Amino acid sequence: MQKIVNIITKGLNGSVTIPADKSISHRAVMFASLAKGKSVIKNFSKGQDPLSSLNVCRILGIDAEFKNDLLIINSTGKLSAPSSTLDCGNSGTTMRLISGILAGQNFNSTLIGDASLSKRPMKRIIEPLSLMGAEIKSNDFKAPLNIYGQNLHAINYISKLASAQVKSCILLAGLNAEGETNYTEPYISRNHTEIMLKYMGADIYTDKNTVKIKKSELQPRTIEICGDISSAAYFIAAALIVPNSKIILKNIGLNPTRTGILEVTEKMGGNVKILDKKNISGEDVGDVQVSFSDLKACKIEGEIIPRLIDELPAIAVLATQAEGTTVIKDAQDLRNKESDRIKAVVTELKKIGADIKETPDGFIINGKTNLKGGVEVETYHDHRLAMSLFVAGLICEKPILINGFEWVNISFPEFDYLFKTLSL
Ligand code: S3P
Repeated sequence: MQKIVNIITKGLNGSVTIPADKSISHRAVMFASLAKGKSVIKNFSKGQDPLSSLNVCRILGIDAEFKNDLLIINSTGKLSAPSSTLDCGNSGTTMRLISGILAGQNFNSTLIGDASLSKRPMKRIIEPLSLMGAEIKSNDFKAPLNIYGQNLHAINYISKLASAQVKSCILLAGLNAEGETNYTEPYISRNHTEIMLKYMGADIYTDKNTVKIKKSELQPRTIEICGDISSAAYFIAAALIVPNSKIILKNIGLNPTRTGILEVTEKMGGNVKILDKKNISGEDVGDVQVSFSDLKACKIEGEIIPRLIDELPAIAVLATQAEGTTVIKDAQDLRNKESDRIKAVVTELKKIGADIKETPDGFIINGKTNLKGGVEVETYHDHRLAMSLFVAGLICEKPILINGFEWVNISFPEFDYLFKTLSL
């Protein structure tokens, strides 16, 4: 699907409720599938990625039905051998998390993914899972993955990567392994797995950068899912750079392991305020008000990177409108996402007139630049590219045409409709 984006001069105004968090939705359906009894999930994401997780759980024998806005999961507490391959679609989170669950089952399974997912690295989970006694055959450490269920044992693992998918995979394997699994990461990545497993009764606790988990049975719960700060990021970026904007984004997850984008917008001088904070199902949630701002460049590196990893394409767009040189470092894992996001962002933002340079682990962006537009841009089958380019298009002198805009449906099918309500 092609999308033409025109300049907006009169600003974005009004308020929208941000749809459900993708990361938390994956976890909710998987963990509810492991808990014996009935769990109720409120506000499950309608993105294709979480639906891939739901579909995989159904093939593993879980009874899951939507009733209005609720997803009702009934589970015996045990998964059953799948009668077909398990298709994870475009979703790295589905493949990496479910592998941790399947490695310790008493049956075999095969995980497949689309062209993009089949190129993504799986060594990062296969290696530690193998240390726990897992048996996994892969295509040179890529999908398809053939998982031969085994009895697992605990490990102490010190990861070189700050990856919530790898951490979650090992914690889920640890949930069903003999002994206490200890997982240490260099910087703290998103901790939704730890919060939800605790909420469902697992024997898990965190000590600085180490998470410890023992074999546990999960209890069914009602899980309410907050709005996705990674989806909100596009509206935050748009309101900051489109003159005359003032918007309120409601029900945004504000877990500190995800709010790097808010710390960066503050450093850039952005007018972003948190209006109301509460806690839902263990997660911090609030409303965020954003207005058009004069931005200044900043340096983004180190421990903050995992706390804003998915927002870096949108931050790159912001940096084109910030006075000075923005340097983004330590983000080499961006090359292993749904696309090589460093190469893709640089190639496409250059086309519309940005002054941006690729480095091995990030970007150097000089601002403030008048973006010329008047060109076609590509999404590389990557939802975050599609939405970031859309935001850039809002301030281009001439319209841009985005090819492959349908990829937004991976995480944010409501994007277009909600955006329109702010630009009426
Ligand atoms: C996710 C973790 C991050 C993130 C992805 C979702 C998760 O990936 O980029 O979109 O839900 O755990 P990594 O763990 O590979 O950094």
